[in-house]
Amino acid sequence: MADFEPVLSRNWNIPDSHTLKVYESRGGYQAAKKALAMDPDAIVNIVKESELRGRGGAGFPCGLKWTFLPKDRKETLMCVNGDESEPATFNNRLLIEKDPHQFIEGILISCFATKASTAYVYLRFEYIEAYRIMERAIAEARAAGHLGKNIYGSGFDLEVYCHRGAGAYICGEETGLIESLEGKRGWPRIKPPFPAIEGAFRKPTVVNNVETLCCVPHIVERGAAWFKSIGVPKSYGPKLYCVSGHVNKQVCVELPLGVSTRELIDRHAGGVWKGRKAKGAVPGGISMGLLSADELDTPLDFESLRKPNCLGLGTAAVTVIDDKTSIVDYLYNTCRFFAHESCGQCTPCREGTGWFYKMIKRIRSGGGRIEDLDIMHHMAENLGIIPGTTICGLADGAAWPVKNAIAKFRGEFEDYIRQHQAPKARITALQENIAHGVRADGDTSMPAVDGPPNLIPPGAVVLRSPRPDSA
Ligand SMILES: Cc1cc2nc3c(=O)[nH]c(=O)nc-3n(C[C@H](O)[C@H](O)[C@H](O)COP(=O)(O)O)c2cc1C
Ligand code: SF4
Repeated sequence: MADFEPVLSRNWNIPDSHTLKVYESRGGYQAAKKALAMDPDAIVNIVKESELRGRGGAGFPCGLKWTFLPKDRKETLMCVNGDESEPATFNNRLLIEKDPHQFIEGILISCFATKASTAYVYLRFEYIEAYRIMERAIAEARAAGHLGKNIYGSGFDLEVYCHRGAGAYICGEETGLIESLEGKRGWPRIKPPFPAIEGAFRKPTVVNNVETLCCVPHIVERGAAWFKSIGVPKSYGPKLYCVSGHVNKQVCVELPLGVSTRELIDRHAGGVWKGRKAKGAVPGGISMGLLSADELDTPLDFESLRKPNCLGLGTAAVTVIDDKTSIVDYLYNTCRFFAHESCGQCTPCREGTGWFYKMIKRIRSGGGRIEDLDIMHHMAENLGIIPGTTICGLADGAAWPVKNAIAKFRGEFEDYIRQHQAPKARITALQENIAHGVRADGDTSMPAVDGPPNLIPPGAVVLRSPRPDSA
């Protein structure tokens, strides 16, 4: 990969790369000028030919998605997904902070192609710096005639608005995002209808990720064949890989799709920290599952991750876990996240994520049984949009780490359960406490999954918790 020339991050090291002046001096907005002189459908076709797949998580072909818009539509809306809520993922933030005009150019061309005259950029709430940079860049682009009315004399109008997110993981799911944008609770909608038919404000809507749209100007400028010359079959183009966790250097690096986790760790992230070895790695955000140490050579692309039974490439955010880390702790943190983030609409997800959390918490506290592993694995097999029991993919993302961790590290779980077996009276107390949502383990950082509020001082052992109705 030594001769790979960065595409999306090519301006990042240039001083003031976020300004219009620098962007234009590097050839910026030339692709937009070329595109706005073309027929919109011709741009859709180029993007289709490039086989650009969405970078937001699902990897759905971008050009194909654009063709789902009704032919006779009167109005189209564009929602750009910058919620970036998948843990350990930070490439969208960098794309906006370091080169906002590349992003605006991507929005402009994509809106022209899909005939959308309004674009909403839904930005993660915590990204205050990205929000400020984006607001400034929109104003600059507008003043220079790249946005607004009759852009480049083409007759095409476009306004771009930034909308700050609601601080929940579920607002990254495209229909949760739309509900949130409309000012409601971010509850995903049942599909169909898909957003292309009925999306924001019930109008045909395109939802795309920030990185997906940043690829578009380069495809228009250099052609579909150029784009397909990068990467591996069925996974074309450049990709921003985030690497964090137990590595010497946390990085976001741009490479052709298809590099392996091992290459990311060894060549780009300075190796595993403290001279240790990797026990495993999360391949693309925690919802994608877990790779064991002997699976680290798997190419990180849209297809290859099926072989080690991961959910997919996701956001291509790799988190490395060193060999001194307990796999029980990994799963505890993961299940805690999903129990907290489930929106609660679907019973299997609401209850399932809560049960995962309670069970792994009991295992971690010394109250585990070997059969708990089978129960958790069985639950994980039946939870999510893939088995068809939930509205959205959050539940699949919650289930996959459970399935992978138990299947790939069962020996470690069993050893842990045996070695940490607490006395029987303590186990009964733990089961009671956890079942009633009362914390006796000092973990007060998160509200109970259900049950009464925590009135028990950290560290206290409680044999029977008060029921809300027992007062
Ligand atoms: C629980 C959940 C969270 C998601 N979070 C994000 C997110 O933060 N950013 C994102 O772009 N896509 C996210 N997605 C995927 C979106 O639903 C959608 O597929 C994506 O924004 C489409 O853009 P793309 O086709 O360009 O990838 C999430 C999906 C789920 C199920
Ligand atoms: S799967 Fe979970 S997060 Fe998604 S809609 Fe259902 S309850 Fe909400």
